[in-house]
Amino acid sequence: MSRDQKFFDMYSLVIGVLVVFTIFILVLAMEMSERTQGVFTRETDEYKAAVAERIRPVGQVYLPGEEQAAEAPVVEVVAEPEPVVTAMTGPQVYNTACLACHSTGVGGSPVVGETAQWTDRIAQGIDVLYDHAINGFDGDAATPMLPKGGRMDLSDQEVRDAVDYMVAESS
Ligand code: HEC
Repeated sequence: MSRDQKFFDMYSLVIGVLVVFTIFILVLAMEMSERTQGVFTRETDEYKAAVAERIRPVGQVYLPGEEQAAEAPVVEVVAEPEPVVTAMTGPQVYNTACLACHSTGVGGSPVVGETAQWTDRIAQGIDVLYDHAINGFDGDAATPMLPKGGRMDLSDQEVRDAVDYMVAESS
């Protein structure tokens, strides 16, 4: 056997072993990857969903006849804030609702500031005055005191504050 022949045989053997070894490694690696990544990553729902999201087309094309109704815009209902009604003060109520009669004595109404016209009325007690101002009062005067002076939009408290003011001004 020539030396060349010997070398060639040896060379072929080594190459053959290496090829077999490479194939073995390759098969082993594929098997390993299948048992780990394949099962635990690529086939999980999260992974699939993530991929589907990444490769999702930017827009969608509808051919005539297969249009889809656009999604209805979401209308947010914003609750309107309740209007803040601030109560008027006693003098404010008096000036807007009571002054018309009580500054001049229309219909025999007691004039605010005329102490003499108020002494007997104040003597009844403040609660009676409140009651008469809120619910009305038909006394000796020519005309009756209308409930809340005709201003039914006033709150009871606003009327009471006005009475307090009128009494304070007349005693
Ligand atoms: C349309 C005219 C008129 C208006 C407006 C009016 N009053 Fe009088 N008020 C009278 C008359 C008239 C009397 C007297 C009634 C009587 O003694 O018979 C009176 C009496 C009163 C008395 C005395 C009640 C008593 O027991 O003696 C009070 C208190 C009073 N008014 C408060 C008010 C207040 C508060 C307002 C405003 C919210 C008001 N009035 C608006 C006509 C009015």
